[in-house]
Amino acid sequence: MTGYRKHYNRSTDTYSSTYKQMGVTCIACHPAAAPDPIDGCTARRDTRTLPPRLASAVCASCHARAETFDDSFCPGDLFEDHYQLELPVAPGVFYANGMQRDEVFCETGFRLSRMGAAGVTCMDCHDPHTGETLLPWEDNSLCLRCHAIQKVINGKKAPYSAGAPEGTCDRQSIGGRCVECHMPESTYMARDPRRDHSLNIPDPQLSLEIGTPNACTMCHRDKNDEWAAHVLARAIPHQLMEQRRPRTRAVHAAMMGQGKSADLLRALQHEDIPAWRATLLEHMSRCPLTPAIQEAAQRAATDADALVRAAAAGIPGPHVVDLLHDPVRSVRHAAAWRMLQSAPQLSSESASLDELRNAAEFRADQPGGTMLLATLAQAAGNTHEAEIQYRRAIELDPSSPVPYMDYALLLARQNRMTDALKQMLTCTKTAPQNAEAQYRLALVLSELGLYPAALTSLERALQADPHHEAAQAAKESLLQFMTNSH
Ligand code: HEC
Ligand code: HEC
Ligand code: HEC
Ligand code: HEC
Ligand code: HEC
Ligand code: HEC
Repeated sequence: MTGYRKHYNRSTDTYSSTYKQMGVTCIACHPAAAPDPIDGCTARRDTRTLPPRLASAVCASCHARAETFDDSFCPGDLFEDHYQLELPVAPGVFYANGMQRDEVFCETGFRLSRMGAAGVTCMDCHDPHTGETLLPWEDNSLCLRCHAIQKVINGKKAPYSAGAPEGTCDRQSIGGRCVECHMPESTYMARDPRRDHSLNIPDPQLSLEIGTPNACTMCHRDKNDEWAAHVLARAIPHQLMEQRRPRTRAVHAAMMGQGKSADLLRALQHEDIPAWRATLLEHMSRCPLTPAIQEAAQRAATDADALVRAAAAGIPGPHVVDLLHDPVRSVRHAAAWRMLQSAPQLSSESASLDELRNAAEFRADQPGGTMLLATLAQAAGNTHEAEIQYRRAIELDPSSPVPYMDYALLLARQNRMTDALKQMLTCTKTAPQNAEAQYRLALVLSELGLYPAALTSLERALQADPHHEAAQAAKESLLQFMTNSH
């Protein structure tokens, strides 16, 4: 719907949503168009006359997988003033090479691509009025428009390509279509065929190593990755995709919870695509903090790209305070969130907190929003309100382990151990394979003096994730303690 406003009322748990027009109509992109212009959008800022980056943001406001701060986006606005784009961080959403795994729409993939980073836009391939591509892709003319003549976009030359590398597919077959190799299609919910917009180069060698997909065997279903890797090694001895492998490996390991900060840092040094720099930093924020990570974050805090600065704000350090006043909202949010976690008394930064609270209120009908409200209430010293919000988050999504864990932590901090135990028992019943949940249950059990039960939970944690270092350490010290007290 065009001009949709959610209007969720938290106290009554009801919606009074409104919209301007059904479907994606002219005013979505030309907000001043008669007879029913969009309220609050400036007539002067029309998609037709915007610079390419801002025009693409209009498309992204609908075609992105992102966290939403509000529903007041207007053409001319920066995407990052209203949304936090999802990057290849959580497992199950993207593959480590940026290809779509879950249904992710187009923006993230395209930003991760070399072509997107060079400033090619959605409108270079799509006609916004018909939804059709500007030229047919079936005969490659859509791509050859730039790649046959090495067209220059913002100083970047489109590399010459005439199609399938010699020694692979027949250029007259469907295997000769640029789009089939660089934008393979996956179908979601049985009826949504989606082209991958990360414009990857198919790399069967990496498929063998870490399981990322490649267009070759997505189409040659009767062949395996070994075959495809062998064909390519013969066809192109010096493969371009080799340069990208260290990054993909580092991201893959991090997605699996085994990130190595040295590998991530090395990849970051060589990375010229901002969305990948942001991805690497987001993964680093989940590794144990080291001076090298902190230094990288400090440098990234002055990056020209807001995605990168927002990722830098997720890593503790003195730069976070400056980022609280960043001109871009997604960066301010990330900084405020970081501050909340490391220094919960943020009263002197009330402006950033108010803004974060507004975003949380906007999403209060979702578990993520209620969790944020709970954290904010805790920071304000209002544990009663925090409890209400945690219980609401659990009610909204009883299958997610995180709300139980955070709620139990709040209860444990108040020394309400039996209440905390109750939450953690429900949590581990809902998600028995979650190592962190088993570990946290063990902590509560040992606080209560239930050592053998704690030991069982720690063993379950290590079964679920043999690399869970905290569980390993806790198990060792618990065993020692139990031996000593005998
Ligand atoms: C999804 C966004 C979008 C929607 C919806 C949209 N337009 Fe456009 N429109 C654009 C963009 C972007 C341009 C700039 C030219 C281009 O790149 O095609 C444009 C250009 C135009 C132009 C200038 C002439 C031209 O074709 O370049 C007119 C007139 C126009 N649009 C009218 C409309 C009308 C009428 C509607 C509703 C029926 C509409 N547009 C819906 C994005 C949109
Ligand atoms: C107000 C939300 C909105 C905006 C803004 C928007 N789109 Fe869409 N677009 C949609 C929806 C909804 C669909 C249909 C669902 C789908 O295929 O994802 C769609 C479909 C499409 C399709 C597929 C059309 C087809 O027939 O299969 C293309 C291509 C597309 N949009 C490109 C663009 C581009 C380029 C822009 C920016 C100029 C843009 N859109 C802006 C909501 C939007
Ligand atoms: C408007 C011009 C333009 C069009 C149209 C275009 N490209 Fe590109 N493409 C570029 C430019 C410029 C680069 C190089 C960016 C760089 O080197 O930083 C590029 C880079 C690429 C790359 C290299 C990606 C990488 O990560 O190494 C691939 C693959 C690619 N394009 C495929 C395609 C395909 C497939 C199509 C058609 C669906 C297409 N391009 C259409 C301009 C274009
Ligand atoms: C059969 C699969 C296949 C098809 C079809 C195909 N490509 Fe590629 N493309 C590849 C592979 C593999 C590479 C890596 C080549 C290398 O390592 O030298 C590549 C590399 C590229 C690059 C990066 C080149 C560079 O120097 O950075 C671009 C750009 C590109 N292709 C564009 C296209 C365009 C445009 C078409 C259609 C005219 C096309 N490709 C068709 C498989 C394909
Ligand atoms: C290099 C060319 C190119 C660029 C740039 C590009 N697309 Fe596409 N897109 C395609 C092709 C080709 C298809 C498949 C069209 C078809 O099947 O008819 C497609 C399909 C789509 C679809 C239909 C559903 C799907 O996912 O396959 C949507 C929506 C879409 N693109 C949105 C976007 C948006 C938004 C952007 C900018 C972030 C964008 N595209 C940039 C080439 C491009
Ligand atoms: C969209 C489908 C598609 C994609 C993607 C694709 N191919 Fe093909 N390929 C074909 C078709 C169709 C033929 C022609 C088959 C025939 O003539 O029997 C072919 C032929 C070939 C052949 C020669 C015939 C054979 O089976 O030995 C090789 C080798 C080959 N492809 C390798 C590759 C490699 C490597 C990739 C990835 C870089 C790739 N293909 C991607 C469809 C595809």
